[in-house]
Amino acid sequence: MNNEPMNNGKSADQQISKSANQQISEWRMANGESPTSNLQSPTSNLQPPTSNFQPEITVFMCIYCAYMAADTAGALRIKYPANVKLVKLPCTGKTDVRYLLEAFAQGADGVCVVGCPIGNCHHVHGNVRGRARVEYAKALLDQIGLGGKRLEMYFVSGGMGNPFANAIRELTERVKKVGPNPLRSVKRET
Ligand code: FES
Repeated sequence: MNNEPMNNGKSADQQISKSANQQISEWRMANGESPTSNLQSPTSNLQPPTSNFQPEITVFMCIYCAYMAADTAGALRIKYPANVKLVKLPCTGKTDVRYLLEAFAQGADGVCVVGCPIGNCHHVHGNVRGRARVEYAKALLDQIGLGGKRLEMYFVSGGMGNPFANAIRELTERVKKVGPNPLRSVKRET
């Protein structure tokens, strides 16, 4: 049975058709900020990466293939960066752009969504919807100055412990080059 929420026949892209400005305004309001305020650009707090910078990565993962892949990596004792927070989702189709932005607001330097391979989602097209939301969130991050490179989506099957670990390593290395999340210092000051 398809447990995906009703989508009225719309594609994933159509379902997230709100303008970027509207989405950012809603996110600002949800975070107690004025939707129209001229926020200081996050890039004004950008700090150059230091050699000992260890990015904090938040990983949203489906409870099927992705979680199994993380479990496989653990069982095989495959090493990957330790600064990782794992957040389980029933399916990456439940990815919400707000979850992704909130992870950055909470100080994550990088965020990724990990799901089943395309065509193997346990909720049929959930990973396709998740991918569309990640792409949309990347555009928002570029627009607000945080940078879409901090966000990525990966697809793994349950036995793919090495590819899972490689994905975390790849994002960590990428974020090291981009630098710390400027919102983290803002959060500490408040
Ligand atoms: Fe894994 Fe949908 S169940 S991405």
